[in-house]
Amino acid sequence: MCGIVGYIGSNGACKILIQGLKRLEYRGYDSAGMALVGNDGRLNVHKSKGKVANLEQTAAAGDTEGCLGIAHTRWATHGEPNDINAHPHVSQSGDIALVHNGTIENYAVLKKVLSDHGVEFKSETDTEVLVQLIEYIKLTSNCTLSEAVREALLQVEGAYAIAVVERGEPDTLIVARKSSPLVIGVGDNETFIASDATPIIGYTDKVIYLENDEMAVIKRGEPINIVSISSNLPSKIDIHKLRLSLAQLEKGGYDTFMLKEIFEQPATLCDCLRGRITPDGRRVVLSGVELNKQKFIEAERITLVACGTSWHAALIGKRLIQDFCQIPVEVEYASEFRYGNPVLGPKDIVISISQSGETADTLAAIQIAKQKGAFVYGVCNVVGASIPRATDSGTYIHVGPEIGVASTKAFTGQVTVLTLLALAIGQLRGAIDEEKVYEIASALKTMPKTIEETLKVDTEIQKLSRIFTYAHNFLYLGRGYNYPTALEGALKLKEISYIHAEGYPAAEMKHGPIALIDHEMPSVIIAPSDSLYDKIISNVQQVKSRGGAVVAIVSKGNTAMNDIADFCIEIPEVPECLTPLVASIPLQLLAYYIAVNKGKDVDQPRNLAKSVTVE
Ligand code: G6P
Repeated sequence: MCGIVGYIGSNGACKILIQGLKRLEYRGYDSAGMALVGNDGRLNVHKSKGKVANLEQTAAAGDTEGCLGIAHTRWATHGEPNDINAHPHVSQSGDIALVHNGTIENYAVLKKVLSDHGVEFKSETDTEVLVQLIEYIKLTSNCTLSEAVREALLQVEGAYAIAVVERGEPDTLIVARKSSPLVIGVGDNETFIASDATPIIGYTDKVIYLENDEMAVIKRGEPINIVSISSNLPSKIDIHKLRLSLAQLEKGGYDTFMLKEIFEQPATLCDCLRGRITPDGRRVVLSGVELNKQKFIEAERITLVACGTSWHAALIGKRLIQDFCQIPVEVEYASEFRYGNPVLGPKDIVISISQSGETADTLAAIQIAKQKGAFVYGVCNVVGASIPRATDSGTYIHVGPEIGVASTKAFTGQVTVLTLLALAIGQLRGAIDEEKVYEIASALKTMPKTIEETLKVDTEIQKLSRIFTYAHNFLYLGRGYNYPTALEGALKLKEISYIHAEGYPAAEMKHGPIALIDHEMPSVIIAPSDSLYDKIISNVQQVKSRGGAVVAIVSKGNTAMNDIADFCIEIPEVPECLTPLVASIPLQLLAYYIAVNKGKDVDQPRNLAKSVTVE
């Protein structure tokens, strides 16, 4: 949510910043801006409403000289998206420019104090308060920019990742973070800063993940200086090696990132499974579980916390863990959990699930769980993100960068890791027999091939999508393992096509949603040949007898459903607990093609952001 990028070196900053913003655009795209400090010290600020491409044009028409700069792509929190509210914000004198990702919670109080001292504000943002405060401190205390930044941050409440530059200071870039992420790329005589590593790839593979409460002063030609904001003591600098390639950030011949990511799933699941099932298919080995055996053996309860699509994966995880481990499991929205005064102790395991590893609510939930003594395990995609660094242990899903805002390959990666996790914990606790492990693990091993097979429904779904492009409402129904699949299918459609869709447990439909069914309300019903198949058939009949059109997702060879449903989409037969993996593929494609038919921007749907770093 909001992306920031910065550069100091010997190359033109403008081009690097624009390219960096484009890679961060998935974090927000309602306005963008940059501040460049020319080699002679002059400061130029360019801003534009809308996407980064607009900023690129605006900047090209102005002065873009300079080898130092900071830039921002915005997801509005305070103040509507327009040129004035776009970052960078500049201080009253116009000397200091700042970009910010996060929320300054006490901005109203600070704004009042500064206004009383004659500071005039131009925007409605919380961020402007910070840059004005920095300048106010600098002028009244007669201190350096870095001292003023640190002093201002001590007065600020909330979350921030910031980058600051000053007119007349072409050799200094200052960054700081609390709760919002910030990565520093260390090149040869050049330094990059960004909200995540993607803008840095291709320039350097050496990165420093700035920790909470740290501030870095980056001076041209000098070693980077990192200090704790609260104590001002120097921090130890750890340089990590990035393992991402440029090809992973490109569309690879597909029209959109989302379509690429859907079709990548056979390969990403291969990466996700690699080395985690023994060659004989009889054991699941996850190092995070192996290293913490006692915690998992002694656990009396597991709570899964997540947001959005990751929360849907968590619902599937609950069933998997219950089925294979015989431990009570709860699932909570991280945003509810954090304020729900959860009762936790040392016999609790909290599993946080997050693609980005930066979701503010999930991070806050982790902190609460740790304070209360629970053991916190992370299931995350982005290596080195805040969540994997905040948890006690965990497992990466390793599906590579997910750039389309609507999550697809991360969802199947999460469900796969949760399946492995449930099997590993079940084995440790002696709650699952060897044959069952063998059955599921063998099916998982061939899952990449099974997904490849499933993706052959593409053309059929493309045709089907045309029939439903102009529906105003959709119902998605599923039972058991596929109730969360229904929720996820409905979410995909909502996110990218803006069609209202509700996911429901199929049997609950008769307690309300059935009132909505008529010939204008199609239902997508997930009905693989599993233990609940006979039950769901009667739910399909209930919809049909009220005139609703039914698209049924069924197991290959199920011809009986053809007589009841209007359209049947076949998926390969797999063990019941793995049906969400295959059933989610046609749902992703259906949402995708409906959105494309409607001419929507599937990779960057309105109002959404991929990494939600605010509450
Ligand atoms: C946003 C994204 C969703 C994602 C959710 C949770 O809403 O648009 O795709 O599921 O955040 O994000 P996380 O990174 O924690 O999985």
